[in-house]
Amino acid sequence: MKWQIQHFDVVQSTNETAKNFPANTVIVASCQTGGKGRLGRVWESPKGNLYCSIVVADRGNLSPLLAFVAGVAVAESLADFHPALKWPNDILIDGKKCAGLLLERTESSIIIGIGLNLISAPTKGMLYQTTHLNKAILPEDILNLILEKLSAYLTLFDTQGFGPVREKWLSYAVGINKSIQVNLPTKKLQGIFKEMSPQGELVLELPDKRVQNITAGDVFIL
Ligand code: BTN
Repeated sequence: MKWQIQHFDVVQSTNETAKNFPANTVIVASCQTGGKGRLGRVWESPKGNLYCSIVVADRGNLSPLLAFVAGVAVAESLADFHPALKWPNDILIDGKKCAGLLLERTESSIIIGIGLNLISAPTKGMLYQTTHLNKAILPEDILNLILEKLSAYLTLFDTQGFGPVREKWLSYAVGINKSIQVNLPTKKLQGIFKEMSPQGELVLELPDKRVQNITAGDVFIL
């Protein structure tokens, strides 16, 4: 895939900027004044970390699965640091959050926003412990690697469906068969994280053995 990379010094949010560009554009900024996290949270964005948004073609009702395609691509790019993936969109190193993904939809495309802590680990608005890569890699090098892996995993997804991407995602997953707490907007659930469903849902076995499939929430490994 040929990516068109557009660099900005300061933007409000690379995801917002990206909404004005066609598929295959990548918006990168040195810092963001209004970086957005999942579920309406703030993504603190000082200079030195990677903030980018990748515009890809909409895949209709399969588009939500692009979060896992991107997660696997970012994890694989960080192979030297032994990453793990926490459902749905967190990339962990040493059990701490090092990167997050925020997917948004426009009329015709999907924006894959990636925030990766390279030199600092902001804590504002963070539910989890955070970490950074301690300057071990330059932003342009890791971005190129992510784009290369993303191209490969998008092709795999488009040609073979979610199965192989799901397998890969599970190979990086933390918390499978462990006790977890899932915070939903109106309640908290505890149970065993049994698997990720073929639709990308978290399959939670509740204490009374009922199974609940969850599509969005914050997961804490107990
Ligand atoms: C999360 O874990 O809550 C998701 C964080 C996503 C942050 C990135 S930084 C680049 C892009 N622009 C944004 O405003 N957010 C995403």
